[in-house]
Amino acid sequence: MCGIAGYVGSLEAASVLLVALERLKYRGYDSAGIAVLDEDDELVVEKSEGRLTELQARVDGQAVRGCCGIAHTRWATHGGPTTENAHPHGDSDERIAVVHNGIIENHEQLRKELLADGCIFRSQTDSEVIPHLLAGSGKEDMLDAVISILPRLEGAYAFGVVSELFTDRIVAVRQGSPLLLGRGDGHVMLASDIPALLPHAHEVCMLDDGQIVDIQGSEIQLYNSEGEKIEAVFKAIEVTAEAVSKGDYDSFMAKEIAEQPEIFSRLLESRVTGGRLDVGDFGVDLSKINHVVFLACGTSWHAALLGKRFLEQLARIHVEVDISSEYRYRNPVASGDTLVIPISQSGETADTLAGLRLARSMFMPVVSLVNVMDSTIARESDGIMPLMAGPEIGVASTKAYTTQVLALYLFAMQMARAKGRLDLSVEQKMLAEISHLPELTASTLVDAEESVVDAMELFSAAQATVFLGRGGEHATAMEGALKLKEIAYVHAMGYPAGEFKHGPIALVTEALPVVCMVPQDHMYEKMLSNLEEVRARAGRIISVGFKGDNKLRSLSDFCFPVAQSPIPELQPLLSILPLQRYAYHVARRRGCDVDQPRNLAKSVTVE
Ligand code: G6P
Repeated sequence: MCGIAGYVGSLEAASVLLVALERLKYRGYDSAGIAVLDEDDELVVEKSEGRLTELQARVDGQAVRGCCGIAHTRWATHGGPTTENAHPHGDSDERIAVVHNGIIENHEQLRKELLADGCIFRSQTDSEVIPHLLAGSGKEDMLDAVISILPRLEGAYAFGVVSELFTDRIVAVRQGSPLLLGRGDGHVMLASDIPALLPHAHEVCMLDDGQIVDIQGSEIQLYNSEGEKIEAVFKAIEVTAEAVSKGDYDSFMAKEIAEQPEIFSRLLESRVTGGRLDVGDFGVDLSKINHVVFLACGTSWHAALLGKRFLEQLARIHVEVDISSEYRYRNPVASGDTLVIPISQSGETADTLAGLRLARSMFMPVVSLVNVMDSTIARESDGIMPLMAGPEIGVASTKAYTTQVLALYLFAMQMARAKGRLDLSVEQKMLAEISHLPELTASTLVDAEESVVDAMELFSAAQATVFLGRGGEHATAMEGALKLKEIAYVHAMGYPAGEFKHGPIALVTEALPVVCMVPQDHMYEKMLSNLEEVRARAGRIISVGFKGDNKLRSLSDFCFPVAQSPIPELQPLLSILPLQRYAYHVARRRGCDVDQPRNLAKSVTVE
C-alpha cells in the first residue's frame, strides 16, 4: 500500500506534492511526509503522523521552498503509524531521502549488516534500509547507486530517491508496486496512480517491473533492469481533475453512490451495438470454455459470487469463486478449458495479481474485470473487460461493485451466446429489460432515502447488525454488512438466511437490528419465515423489499423500498443501494470519516 509522488519542474514542489498526496491518500493515510531540495540543494524534510492535514499544517508553517521533491502517504506495515516511521527516510548523514511503497522482505538481514557497518537507523520500517544501502554503495552517481543496490532487495517495491548531491534530480524504480511517470509543460512527475499526476501532467508512461527512471530537470531517461537505455512511451491522460474531485458532495462515497445510474447507462451504451451485446473480444474462444474460476478480494469477491450465479444460470458452466489470498497458496487444478477471471476495481490488489500470475504460469487464459485500465492486473491479463465506472476514491467500494455486477451479467450473456444457449430474440428482449436499470437505480436511491435515515436514527448506536439473504441476496447481505463494518465500525455479518437457525439466531435480542433481504422471488415466503423467527425473539427488523409490499412493511420496523428489477437475477444490484446509503448515514452519525476509514486502504498492494 502507501502512495508515493515526485515532482521536478518550475513550481513549488511542496504545493504540487501535497495535492498529489491528497489524491493518493486512499492508498493509506496514517502518516505522511515530504522531502524537498531547497535553493541551496539542502534537503528539507517534513513528516507527520495522523491525517494529511497534519502534514499540510507543518509544511504551510515552514514555507518549504524548492522545485524538486518526493512525498509519501503511509499505510503502516513495519513499525507503527508514528512520525519517525513516516517517509521519507534518510541515510545516516541525512543527505539522501527515499519514499517507498511495498515491502522489503529481507530488511531484517540488511538492517543487521548496515547496523554493523555503523549506520544510524531512525525508524522501525523495512524501507529505511534503502537510503543506507544507497549511501554505502560506493557509487558517486545516483543512478549507478540505485542500480547497484537492486540485487540486494527482495520483495515488492516502488521507490523514489532525491539527494543533496544532485540538483533537480529524482531516480525511481518499479519492482512489483505501481509507479507512473507523468509529464506536462515544464513539469515531470512520478506517482503511484494517475489522479496524483493531475493537473500538471498531460501524458503518462506506465513503468514496468524492473524499470528505472532518471529525471534530471525536464530530461527523462528510462532504463531496463539491465541498466540499458529504453524509450519511455507516453500516452495522453484521459482522467480529468473534475473526475477526481468531490464536486458538491460532502464525501467521495456520497458522490460515487449518486453516480451509479449514469455509469450503468454508459456501460450499457458501450456494450450494446446495433441491438446486440458486444462485451469485447478477449482473444479467448468462449465456446471452448467449460469452467470458470473467479479470483477476487473484499467487495469484488461479493460481485464474483453473483457472477457465479449468472454464469451457471445463463451459460450452464461450472464456476468456482476463490478468495485470491487462498487460491494463490493452494495447488489449484489447471485445465485447458478453464478461464480465470480476476475481478479488481484497482487492478493492483497484490493477492489477486499473484493469483493471476499463478493461473498464467499454468497456461490458463486470464480475462480480467478491472476498473483501472492501466493497472498491473489489466496489463498482465490476456484480455480485459473494462468497468468504466470512473475513478473510485472512497475507500468503501460502491459504484465499482454494482458496475461489476452488471458487467458480469453481460459477460454471462455473451458466454451463453457462445455456448449456443441464448438466441437472438431472447438476447434482445433481455437487453431491452436491462436498459431500464439506470432509471430504476435512480428512483431507488430517491425512494429509499427517507426510511434509511429513519432507521439510522434508531439504530446508529447498535453494537452489531446482522444481514440475512438467500440466493443472490446472500451476496447483498454480505456486501451490506461489509459496508457497515468498513466505514461505521459496527460489527456486522451477512449470513445465508436458511443457515441463521443453525447458530447465529442465538444473537437475537431487542438490541439487534436484523436486515432481511426480501424481494418477491421464489424465496419470498421463506424469507418471511426468517423474518418471523427474528420477530418472535424480539429482534428489530429492517427489511429490503419491493416498493408497495405492504405485507412486508407491516412485519418490519423499517422497510427500505427498492424497485423491482425486470431481470430477477439482477435484483441484488438494486437491493444493495439502500444499504450503501444506510452505512453512509450510520457512519456519519457515529462521527466516522466515510472516505478514510481507520486501518483500511483502497488499494491493497501488499499481502
Ligand atoms: C480493499 C478495499 C475494498 C476492496 C478490496 C479489493 O480491501 O478496501 O474496498 O473491495 O480491497 O480491491 P480491488 O481493487 O481488488 O477490487
